[in-house]
Amino acid sequence: MYLKDLRTEYRENPIGLDVPRPRFSWKIVSNERNVVQTAYRITVTDEHGKKVWDSTRRQSDQSILVEYAGEDLQPCTAYNVQVEVWDNKLNNASTSGFFETGLLSGTNFTADFISHDFPAEETVCPVFFKEFSLKDKPVKKARVYATALGLYEIKINGKRLGDIFFAPGWTNYKKRVQYQTYVADGMLQNHNKIEITVANGWYKGIFGLKCTPNIYGDKVSVLAEIHITYADGAKQIIKTDESWKVTTKSIRYSEIYMGEIVDSTFKGEKICSAARIDFDKSRILAQESEPVRITERLPAKRLIVSPKQERIIDFGQNLTGFVEMRVMGKPGQRITIRHAEVLDKQGNLYTENLRQARATDVFICNGEEQIFMPHFTFHGFRYIAVDGLEDEQIRLENFTACVLHTDMEPTGSFNCSNELVNQLQSNIRWSQRSNFLDIPTDCPQRDERLGWTGDAQVFSWTAAYNYSVALFFRKWLHDLASEQTKEFGVPHIVPNIFGEHRGAAGWSDAATIVPWVLYQVYGDKRILEEQYESIKGWVDYLTSRCGENGLWQTDFQYGDWLALDRESSESRTGATDVYLIANAFYAYSTHIVGKVARILGKAEDADKYDELYRKIKKAFNEEYVTATGRLVSETQTACVLVLHFNLVDEKRRERIIKTLQNKVAEHNYHLTTGFLGTPYLLHVLSENGLHEMAGKIFLQQDYPSWLYAVKLGATTVWERWDSIRPNGDLQSPMMNSFNHYAYGSVGDWMYRKLAGINQLEPGYKKILIKPQPIEGISWVKATFNSPYGLIRVEWSTKNKKIFLDVEIPANTTAILDLPGSNRVEEIGSGFYHFEYDLAVKEGSE
Ligand code: BGC
Repeated sequence: MYLKDLRTEYRENPIGLDVPRPRFSWKIVSNERNVVQTAYRITVTDEHGKKVWDSTRRQSDQSILVEYAGEDLQPCTAYNVQVEVWDNKLNNASTSGFFETGLLSGTNFTADFISHDFPAEETVCPVFFKEFSLKDKPVKKARVYATALGLYEIKINGKRLGDIFFAPGWTNYKKRVQYQTYVADGMLQNHNKIEITVANGWYKGIFGLKCTPNIYGDKVSVLAEIHITYADGAKQIIKTDESWKVTTKSIRYSEIYMGEIVDSTFKGEKICSAARIDFDKSRILAQESEPVRITERLPAKRLIVSPKQERIIDFGQNLTGFVEMRVMGKPGQRITIRHAEVLDKQGNLYTENLRQARATDVFICNGEEQIFMPHFTFHGFRYIAVDGLEDEQIRLENFTACVLHTDMEPTGSFNCSNELVNQLQSNIRWSQRSNFLDIPTDCPQRDERLGWTGDAQVFSWTAAYNYSVALFFRKWLHDLASEQTKEFGVPHIVPNIFGEHRGAAGWSDAATIVPWVLYQVYGDKRILEEQYESIKGWVDYLTSRCGENGLWQTDFQYGDWLALDRESSESRTGATDVYLIANAFYAYSTHIVGKVARILGKAEDADKYDELYRKIKKAFNEEYVTATGRLVSETQTACVLVLHFNLVDEKRRERIIKTLQNKVAEHNYHLTTGFLGTPYLLHVLSENGLHEMAGKIFLQQDYPSWLYAVKLGATTVWERWDSIRPNGDLQSPMMNSFNHYAYGSVGDWMYRKLAGINQLEPGYKKILIKPQPIEGISWVKATFNSPYGLIRVEWSTKNKKIFLDVEIPANTTAILDLPGSNRVEEIGSGFYHFEYDLAVKEGSE
């Protein structure tokens, strides 16, 4: 037995952690079966060797999120963590790690924000700088704590500090601005120069559907402190103040939607003094999620000369990021790179669907061999058109696509015998990567890239199978709560740059659903505590919008967005009654509040919301289900929501299931669902005796289906079922993204039903393994790295036999529901193999 993956607040050896009572998690790995932790002991020692916490040996099976309960943590201090564990097999093991606190509070910054007084119309990125000397003695540790209103990048002595992009990230800047902690050990000399370049970014850049500038402010600024600790314990702090200077350098223009202009011939401009600006530092907090990094570099695949004579490079994969180019140009040679997701029917670069986003980077050469990449812009693209290079200068090996997103840890894998399904899984993961760039965005390419709550909500379960999203969503939920109001509820996008709009069903319900998902997946009660007011506040707001019948039947709704059952609809809301949907979600969210209140020990609230839930259900039935049990809006999505959210009595279910079955059959076993019905459609079928039908819909290859896009060569999930129409035409450029994860929500069904990996108790402390094969797939191999460790399911069928391998992590138990048999077993951790004759129809290729 051994321990691995010791984590402090989900992170491995985090630096700059400002959580006063951090929680520790570890995984137990063992070859034995039925291993359970019987006790643990955690000791925490500060950097001076002083023990600040000893949990002593605790008889407990808790191995995730064990809360620190020692002396108050001190700012800018490293702590060693030692964990010792005993199991029921009389084994014992230990592991260790560390964490380092940041400033612990924004008000601990002694530096000030500084800005410039360049003319307002100036587009160039200011560079703030300062020179400083060290004392003549050895340095033990150097840290930089920094943030900006805008986006920033730091150089020390000409070298980039750290490997993160788009700092300080996008939050509700009016209330929350994150700072970052950097390790600068080994970068300092006797005499030093620190330079901080700041771009407009989300703070003051051109952003939103109307490409509005100055959304949060009309001037960028920066705040930083360098903390130098000498070997003798002495400290020196260099901080932003009026002694800093500001100038401009090669980045002449940078906007997220538009792109960047880097002129390496630019020879410096006048130098001005920086000016201090007032800022309420209590708004500053440590970075809450993993930062954005370049997580992969993809080589160029092929060069195409288009009918319009464009020089197009294909990277073979739609992605989010930018291109790094190696070039030796003439001084002043101007190279332009335009980005696109697809080529049009004729094979030319297609950029119309980017709308106002220019997505164009320009590099001006200085005559030397140079490597260019932009700093403060990102694009959603698979293809680039290169202008300004002679043909012999365009060498594929000189172009690399840098993939950028929040650096989440991958947690899941799904593979099966059907290559089209494997490509779908790859597309889902790529759309997640492409759209988890600091906030969950709808799409990464056009003039949008906003934190649409509905998209995030419908995809959240799937997201949590593929990557560890606890920190990513937690940060975003903090912003969601900070944007929520009593008058308008929860906004449609977070951070909210739209202003005041009343919350909408299925979108604003992210407030209840996403924390609930996180709790189920990670067993993290603190997330529920932190979000409780927001969770409850959303339902209270809805109640305030209800009429006398206790139902929410007012306010703008997106409905079953982009559903196909009313294709001609200008409003794009689908055919399902939008208020049926609204009240289905109202009931569901209320049900969640009741459960959350119960978990948090708030019995009175729990009773209150349970009662409200019953009332909503009753009113829902009176309004939307006839006396004989017919739904008033008979669409696939209406049936799916009513069944999935359990809104009718047992005796009424059968008729609705039958209606759903008919609705699917009517469309020749194809879906017609939009954003809100799609995530649950296959689940509802599988759970109501129609798994075979679910399998059929899932494996359709013609329009509309998931594999339709795959067959057309998609490498990410599309916004619309027909982003490319069956006749080869592209959908309207007004709304046609080729990288939108909402329909990727089927990933949840793939992991849960096809592979059979489900959580029965929060955090996967108890697991349900219930693979449900379908015709057309003869084997599945899937893994999920749960908070307790790896869950693995592999099944295959051959000659009417099924072969099944299952791995259950230590310190958990599982219910194993063996497919094609009536066997249900409770098992402990370990490896299991089964093979037996199938009683039901086998899967076949
Ligand atoms: C976005 C969606 C979003 C929707 C709201 C679109 O422009 O791309 O994904 O949820 O607006 O209806």
